[in-house]
Amino acid sequence: MPAMPKVTHLDMISGLSTAVDLVYPALHGHHRRTAFIASQIASALSLQPVEMRTLVVAAMMHDVGALSLAERIETLNFEESETAEPGRDWHGEVGYQLLKGFGPLAGAADLIRFHHVEWWDGRGHSHRGHEVPLASHLLHLADRAAVLVKDGREVLGQAPEIRRRISEQRGRMFVPSLVDGFLQAASKESFWLRIGSLSEESAFFDSLEPVALDPEGIDAFAALFCQIVDFRSRFTATHTSGVGAVAPAMGKLVGLSAEDCGGLKVAGHLHDLGKLAVPVEVLEKPSTLTPRQFNLIKSHSYHTYRLLRASGMGEELTQWAAFHHERLDGRGYPFHRVGEELSLGCRIVAVADVFTALTEDRPYRKGMTKEACLTVLNRMADARALDPDLVALHRTGFDELDGARARGQAAARDRYHAFWDRVGVAVN
Ligand SMILES: [Fe+2]
Ligand SMILES: [Fe+2]
Ligand SMILES: [Fe+2]
Ligand SMILES: [Fe+2]
Repeated sequence: MPAMPKVTHLDMISGLSTAVDLVYPALHGHHRRTAFIASQIASALSLQPVEMRTLVVAAMMHDVGALSLAERIETLNFEESETAEPGRDWHGEVGYQLLKGFGPLAGAADLIRFHHVEWWDGRGHSHRGHEVPLASHLLHLADRAAVLVKDGREVLGQAPEIRRRISEQRGRMFVPSLVDGFLQAASKESFWLRIGSLSEESAFFDSLEPVALDPEGIDAFAALFCQIVDFRSRFTATHTSGVGAVAPAMGKLVGLSAEDCGGLKVAGHLHDLGKLAVPVEVLEKPSTLTPRQFNLIKSHSYHTYRLLRASGMGEELTQWAAFHHERLDGRGYPFHRVGEELSLGCRIVAVADVFTALTEDRPYRKGMTKEACLTVLNRMADARALDPDLVALHRTGFDELDGARARGQAAARDRYHAFWDRVGVAVN
């Protein structure tokens, strides 16, 4: 059984940022690109290291609130309306509300909140009486410059036009000194060439001191990601919280150490991270899925796998989270692993996922009774989909496991309602 992996704060943020970019493939790399541009402007203006760090973190996840497809498409347009339109700055507010309660990201949350809000000349969106930090203005400029860079075209050739469009907004949309910083950074070919070749492990991170996460830190990040995945759809608003409660409870029943149970909680919280690649419309579609939509959904556990590997979560914990649709008989997906290739952690998360899906209430149906749930689980064990010993555990330990699930999901439901209340959107 693995110890918690050695990951840094930035590894986790980088993983989440890539995950959010998955929501809309045309925006692939948008967060990384915005972060790079912001860091270059900040360097030109000699920003302090602490501010630089907060700025880069904010840029890496600034559109985290734009998790529905429609919102993402809107963020791609460079032009912003000159008059305040209620709802236009919605994703900044949603992002702020998602992140602000999470200590390590509270500073970034403040910057994200206003990244589309206020123009320098006072037009644009309403800032609702809040003072907009200069770093938010900087993030706004970096974001707008990032959307002007078009993929698939030679990047140096685009530079003069982008510089012109940003300069045009000096003293209008953008703070004059920030435009000057941008123009200074963007006068070098290397600035543009680096934009054209930012990889998933890009070098601009190297200038920031890495902060290693302890197990509690990893756990807190996983809980945040779980919330970001769950809150996209009211149908499954507490699902991964449920799995994150059931998996460690199962670990305890089979006698695993506290450390391993902690790993199972993290894996449960992260198992459906790849669902960020699936549009909400597809996740919630009531009618039959098209083959393309079905394939999108089927890809989610693979995306979980690659995102967690890229975040440095370590192979074993990554497998615990990402192999939850594999089956002992090798007919699962996406790797078709067979029984002996699936560790106990993988098997536990797989059973916890099915158990949670069967017993949780959804807006359109009630959760199954104990007997109905055990019938389904037994059938799946007989078919060599799930581990029979772990399924047997549910006959004796049903109340304990169901209690853990119910408590985990009740707490998550409270957070879900409190979150939308703060954003100002009614949900049922
Ligand atoms: Fe945005
Ligand atoms: Fe953006
Ligand atoms: Fe899944
Ligand atoms: Fe799931």
